Amino acid sequence: MTPVVTIAGDGIGPEVMAATQKLLGAAGARIDWIEAPAGLGAVESHGEPLPKLTLDLIRKHRVALKGPCTTPIGKGFRSINVRLRQELELFASIRPVQTLPGIHVPYTNVDLVVVRENTEGLYAGLEHFVVPGVVESLRIVTRDAARRIIRYAFELARTQGRRHLTVVHKADVLPLSDGLFLDIAQEVADDFPFLEFSDKPIDRLALELALDPAKFDVLVMENLFGDVVSDLCAGLVGGLGIVPGANIGTRYALFEAVHGSAPDIAGKGLANPIALVRSAALMLDHIGQRQPARRIEESVRRTLQIKKGLTRDLGGDGTTATITEELIANLPH
Ligand code: NAI
Repeated sequence: MTPVVTIAGDGIGPEVMAATQKLLGAAGARIDWIEAPAGLGAVESHGEPLPKLTLDLIRKHRVALKGPCTTPIGKGFRSINVRLRQELELFASIRPVQTLPGIHVPYTNVDLVVVRENTEGLYAGLEHFVVPGVVESLRIVTRDAARRIIRYAFELARTQGRRHLTVVHKADVLPLSDGLFLDIAQEVADDFPFLEFSDKPIDRLALELALDPAKFDVLVMENLFGDVVSDLCAGLVGGLGIVPGANIGTRYALFEAVHGSAPDIAGKGLANPIALVRSAALMLDHIGQRQPARRIEESVRRTLQIKKGLTRDLGGDGTTATITEELIANLPH
């Protein structure tokens, strides 16, 4: 049994977490679930959205699975997700994006991974008024953080048997910051001569992703570009309800659904658990439980193809319960 800290979160979070845990059990995953609070519920029970207890549990057990959390607005709370990434040094955000059967999108054969730097860039949060009416926001790029994320992306490409890595930048307009990022990518690329390497300005990437996303393989970029491109790529294959997410650091790893807490359908049994289910499959792979991970991924594909019991967001008239039953029934033997 591997201990995994679980943050059910708010809104539909507990519903999709329960469905995910049930499926993992049926798939033969051996997990000792350790519940931890975060989100709006934690403000009510512990007085803050990300209690120290939760960070301590993740530091102790090293792996966490997280549902969506409502960020309380206007009460001075910082985003829980940004805090988790910073406190636990989860420097790499990973968004695998693949075309799935049964999901109607304009493209076929999309199979790419967006690797996003998670700790600096504009998300360093360094903003100030220069004079009234003029705000300066600092975009931080450091050699060490750039090297760490770029090396991570190359290693990911190597271990997943991928062929091509594209570093994304805007070095013509930002020759110092993005010039540094690009230079480091070129240095690191020399250590991976068996992988094809190229660079692409962010605007050019946006155009080419809209025209022909199937030609991309691994994309690596700084924080803000990565935030936008991750969601853009999720849209290419059907949206945030079906793509998984992972935040990885040197010591800790946090796997999460990237959609929100969906207050409009919370408590109604209508939530689609697939994003969290697929994030849990990534987690199983990460902790070496590869067989249940593969069974779950296969079951998701079968379920989407058979189209029985699907929730409304997937075009069906089913519920969280019916889709979970189908996912369990479609697990390969
Ligand atoms: P949202 O993703 O919660 O909802 C957008 C739309 O998608 C809604 O119509 C919702 O019903 C639907 N939807 C989302 N996930 C679904 C699922 N699994 N199954 C079926 N339908 C689903 O985005 P919104 O409304 O902007 O945010 C709501 C709350 O979630 C906010 O408090 C926000 O701060 C938080 N949030 C948390 C995130 C996280 O913890 N990772 C990420 C994004 C938002």
